[in-house]
Amino acid sequence: MQTDATRPHAPATLRNREPILAVLRRVLPAEGLLLEIASGTGEHAAFMSPRLSPRLIWQPSEAHADALRDIDGHARAENCARVLPAIVLDVCGVDWPLSAAAAIFCCNMIHIAPWAAAEGLFAGAARVLPNGAPLILYGPFKRHGAHTAPSNQVFDAGLQAQDSRWGVRCLDTQVVPLAERSGFALDEIVAMPANNLIVIFRRRAPVPPSS
Ligand SMILES: C[S@@+](CC[C@H](N)C(=O)[O-])C[C@H]1O[C@@H](n2cnc3c(N)ncnc32)[C@H](O)[C@@H]1O
Repeated sequence: MQTDATRPHAPATLRNREPILAVLRRVLPAEGLLLEIASGTGEHAAFMSPRLSPRLIWQPSEAHADALRDIDGHARAENCARVLPAIVLDVCGVDWPLSAAAAIFCCNMIHIAPWAAAEGLFAGAARVLPNGAPLILYGPFKRHGAHTAPSNQVFDAGLQAQDSRWGVRCLDTQVVPLAERSGFALDEIVAMPANNLIVIFRRRAPVPPSS
């Protein structure tokens, strides 16, 4: 039996969960399946799901199976009725283990993973989301090629020292162009505490082939 003391905690989730929740409450659909990519400890799912629409089901996921037990442990500890058992989902895989979702939320992943993970995220999201559905990213971003704060620059250097494939992505020159190539339109950018952003993309209807 896991106890609170034995489950992993990500301190940043305590600081960012309320501002993120305020945005999710506004932009998520009232019903359907919310797929969370890269759930980490599972603390966002356990905190936010009970505070969202009762018809919204939260599906946590992680790239590696060994993370699932802790995610489920946090949901159980909070008696979350609308958090499903966590599933293995590596965004880089072409076969995601589910075929449809009403929305996708991905917090703090695309800068702590190779760029291929951002590409996999948008490609997979394009396969599972219907037209108009939101893909919601949270994290630090560069704007127009430049860091928005010295703290983000220091953080970025630390990421790249750990793994040269990691790094804070530029919203304007990298992420938005990738989103547009993948069938998404930028809908909204929301400033968050500590120089982070929430960026909301929406699935575009496919352009019919010209005759
Ligand atoms: C910094 S943690 C963020 C966890 C959580 N979302 C949060 O904000 O606390 C980054 C997460 O991205 C996940 N990740 C990295 N590469 C991934 C991939 N290819 N597919 C899915 N998740 C991935 C890692 O396993 C890790 O849990």
